[in-house]
Amino acid sequence: MNRRDFNSIMAAGLAASLVPSRWTLAQARAPEDLRVDGERLNAHLATLSEIGRNPEGGVSRVAYSDYDRAGRALVLDWMRAAKLEPSIDFAGNIIGRRAGRDATLKPLLFGSHLDSVPHGGNYDGNLGSLAAIEVAQVFAEHNVVTRHPIEVVVWQNEEGGLYGSRAVSGQLTPPELKSVSNSGKTVEEGIAFLGGDVSKLDQVKRRKGDIGCYLELHIEQGGTLEAGKVDIGIVEGIVGIKQWEVTVTGFANHAGTTPMDQRHDALLAAAHFVEMVNRIVRSIPGAQVGTVGRIQAFPGAPNVIPGKVVCTLELRDLADAKVDMMFEKIQAEAKVIGAQNGTQFAYTELHVNFAAPSDPRMRNIIAHSAEALKLSSRVMPSGAGHDAQAMAQIGPMGMIFIPSIGGISHSPKEFSRPLDIVNGANVLLRSVLAADQMFA
Ligand code: HGY
Ligand code: MN
Ligand code: MN
Repeated sequence: MNRRDFNSIMAAGLAASLVPSRWTLAQARAPEDLRVDGERLNAHLATLSEIGRNPEGGVSRVAYSDYDRAGRALVLDWMRAAKLEPSIDFAGNIIGRRAGRDATLKPLLFGSHLDSVPHGGNYDGNLGSLAAIEVAQVFAEHNVVTRHPIEVVVWQNEEGGLYGSRAVSGQLTPPELKSVSNSGKTVEEGIAFLGGDVSKLDQVKRRKGDIGCYLELHIEQGGTLEAGKVDIGIVEGIVGIKQWEVTVTGFANHAGTTPMDQRHDALLAAAHFVEMVNRIVRSIPGAQVGTVGRIQAFPGAPNVIPGKVVCTLELRDLADAKVDMMFEKIQAEAKVIGAQNGTQFAYTELHVNFAAPSDPRMRNIIAHSAEALKLSSRVMPSGAGHDAQAMAQIGPMGMIFIPSIGGISHSPKEFSRPLDIVNGANVLLRSVLAADQMFA
């Protein structure tokens, strides 16, 4: 069957519902004329960027803040306008549902998050969340009824550690509920603040096979696509991330009367630790990364030798085993630093996001969708963590990237071009339709 015949059958079939599932992936492309409303999508992004805006641009719409709740209220309205039935699950995630033609099929999930890092950008998470709503709205406006039920999802507190999506994938552990988020609330308090109920977290868990697939559109947050002048990134896998809180214990003493050779200076030890992490991570071949993102010295007075330092350690790589190997090396060298400075190092694991390969069928769907839209694409890893890596634990996952200008993210300078936003949303739209045809 040639492309013209296929498109005319698809256009006819689409008016009533989608074509029967006997078609292969190659045939199950959305008809040429189905597109998102780019103006509406970019306008929604601009409106959302006003909530939690910083004077220098960007947002501080951190999870569990009043701004987070205000942004979610806006999204609930947009979901209703898109003829979705939104509700908040016990983990505080927003889920906008719509029935499909066959209630026995598992739902297709697509979405992202709304929360930002402090002084973050206007596209990280927002793009995937609002594009998912836009896709659902276009389906409603064109009377598209998918075979599968669809669920547009907005995960809570992605930036803190994929808390919402990991509650659904069954990876959230009770101690993590006590973690303190950027808003100052514990995760437990935050979930209640967003309308969830931690006593019923068990009821949000889904098992492998409970979802048809998961798709997420996201900004690349790096410079590969822009540098290569490529329109669409097809994510091959998302890095594993491990975060620890590191406590360095020395001995607080008078800064004036303690001779330099008799100090147990926790901050000096921590300074050696920070340099050592960077040296060890760079000494190993590969694209792994290691970061000490936060550090605090106690008691924090100019005339007191710091007796204690608390800092964070984060290691990432596409292979979980390499993260573990680097951690071993770092711990061993920290022991030597401790012995030289009369200090001790202790580690508390904050959270773990397992590395997650995407599903080859989903990569194939995204590649076909980009091609149908005459967009260039390339397969690439994700150095950033995403809710998609939690979803990969329970179903076939696919992730679509668009270029980040200057490769900047987690910054008010984060920017993606309106045309790239529309391209990404159209690839998401076609990928959802193709997944609807492909999965039983
Ligand atoms: O930290 C990350 O990689 C993601 O943006 N939360
Ligand atoms: Mn994100
Ligand atoms: Mn982020």
